[in-house]
Amino acid sequence: MTADHVAAIDQGTTSSRCIVFDRAGEIVSVAQREHRQIFPRPGWVEHDAEEIWTNVEVVVREALAAAGIDTGGLAAVGITNQRETTVVWDRASGRPVANAIVWQDTRTDPLLRELGATYGEEKVKARTGLPLATYFAGPKLRWLLDSTDGLRERAEAGEVLFGTMDSWLIWKLTGRHVTDVTNASRTMLMNLATLDWDPELLEAVGVPAAMLPEIRCSAEVYGTATGVLAGVPVASALGDQQAALFGQTCFQPGEAKCTYGTGSFLLLNTGASPVPSRHGLLTTVAYQIKDNPPAYALEGAIAVTGSLVQWLRDNLGIISSAPEVEELARTVDDNGGCYVVPAFSGLFAPHWRSDARGVIAGLTGYITRGHLARAALEASAWQTREVVDAMNADSDVALRRLRVDGGMTANDLLMQFLADVLDVPVVRSRITETTCLGAAYAAGLAVGFWPDLATLRDKWRSDAQWESAMDPAHRERELRNWRKAVQRTLDWVD
Ligand code: G3P
Repeated sequence: MTADHVAAIDQGTTSSRCIVFDRAGEIVSVAQREHRQIFPRPGWVEHDAEEIWTNVEVVVREALAAAGIDTGGLAAVGITNQRETTVVWDRASGRPVANAIVWQDTRTDPLLRELGATYGEEKVKARTGLPLATYFAGPKLRWLLDSTDGLRERAEAGEVLFGTMDSWLIWKLTGRHVTDVTNASRTMLMNLATLDWDPELLEAVGVPAAMLPEIRCSAEVYGTATGVLAGVPVASALGDQQAALFGQTCFQPGEAKCTYGTGSFLLLNTGASPVPSRHGLLTTVAYQIKDNPPAYALEGAIAVTGSLVQWLRDNLGIISSAPEVEELARTVDDNGGCYVVPAFSGLFAPHWRSDARGVIAGLTGYITRGHLARAALEASAWQTREVVDAMNADSDVALRRLRVDGGMTANDLLMQFLADVLDVPVVRSRITETTCLGAAYAAGLAVGFWPDLATLRDKWRSDAQWESAMDPAHRERELRNWRKAVQRTLDWVD
C-alpha cells in the first residue's frame, strides 16, 4: 500500500480523536471517543491516563478502518494534545501511578503562593514567560510528588517518569521519553531562552530532573510506533493550541488565531524571539521545526467557553445538546441585562486569579433560559475581547482580523456577536479541525510528505466571514456591564 496519508491524534480535554488526511490536506476519516471527567473535590479535575490510552488505540483503529487503509498507508502520525495536564507513570510497568491532574485543576494554589514568596513571580515570568497560576504542569507534578508515598524517591531513582499527554502517548507508541518545545513551555520548568529544563526552576519548584522527558522539536521523527500504529514514524508533537496556529498556517509574525473548544486560546505569532507580556498574556513557544529556529507566540488563554455550554447541558439541564444553545439563545432579542462570568477554574488571561469564582449578574424575574443561554454565549465573546485588548496593548499593533476555528465556530450567533464586540472581521477557516490538521502538517513536513511551509500555506481557505454591525455606543455600554460582572468574580473571595 502506498503511504498516501498522514494521521493525527488529538488528545483533548474531553475526548481523543484520530483524523486521517490525504495529500491535499483534506479529511478522509475521523474517529472520536470521550473519556471521564473526574471531579474528586471542588476545583479538582482529573483524568485516567490509562483510559485515555485505550481510547486512543480505539480511535486510531476506527479512523484507519473508515479510511480504508492499514498502517502501510500512513507516511507519518502526529500528536497534539491538551496541554499542561500532568501524568506520572512507572517506567517498568508503563502504568500511571495516579490520576492525571488536568490543566483546569486549581489545587496547586497554595504551592504557587509559596513559590511567589520564596522565589518570586517576576523571576518565574522572566525565565518561563508564565505567571504564577495553577494552570501549569510543574507545580501539579510537585503536588503529586508531595502527596504520594515514596514517589519522590522513586522519581530521583528514575523509576517513575513525568510527561504531559504528548509524552505519555509517544512513550506508549514508541517507548521513547520525549516531549516537544511547545508542551515543555507550559510546565513552568523550561527556560524560554535555552529551550531546556532550567536547573534553578527545577530546584525552586522541587522536581527531580531524572523524571523529565527530553525536549525535542515539534516537527521531527521521535521513533517508530509499535502496536496499533506498527511501523509508522511518530513525527510531530504540538500542544493543541500551537497545533491549531500551525493548521491555520499562521507562519508569519503578526498572524493570529483563536480556537473555541473547552476553553478558548488566542495565539499571535511573534516570530523568532519571545515577547514578554505586560498585560496578562503568556509568552510561549509556537513551534519549532527540526534544524530551524523556534517561532514564539503571545497567548491569551481563556479557561471556560465551550465547557460553559456543557455546564448548561449537564449541570443545569436547560439544553439537551450543545448545539441547541444557539436555538435557545435566539428565542430572545438580547441578554435581558444578564451576564455570566464562568470563573470555574478561577480567571485566566488577562486576570490570572485562581481565587475568582463565577457569577451570574443582573438577575431579575424577567430572565429566562433563553437569556441565560445568550449570556453564556456572549461570555465567550467578551472574554475574547479582554484578551484582544491585552494583545493590542502588548504588541503595539492592533489586530485587524481574527482567524477562528473549533467546534463553537459553527455557532453563527456567537460568531456575529464576536465580530460585533471585537469590531474587526472574524474569519473561519474552511477546515475547522485545525488542531489535527496542524499536527498532521508538522508530521508530514518532518518526513518530507509535504515539502515546505509555503505549500501548506497555499492550502488555507476561509469559508465564512462576519463583520461588525453593532452600534459603538451600545458596545461600550455592554462592555462596561461585562467589566462590572467580572469585578464581582474577583471580589468574591476576601
Ligand atoms: O491549555 C489547555 C488546552 O490545551 C486545552 O485545549 O481543546 O482540550 O480544551 P482543549
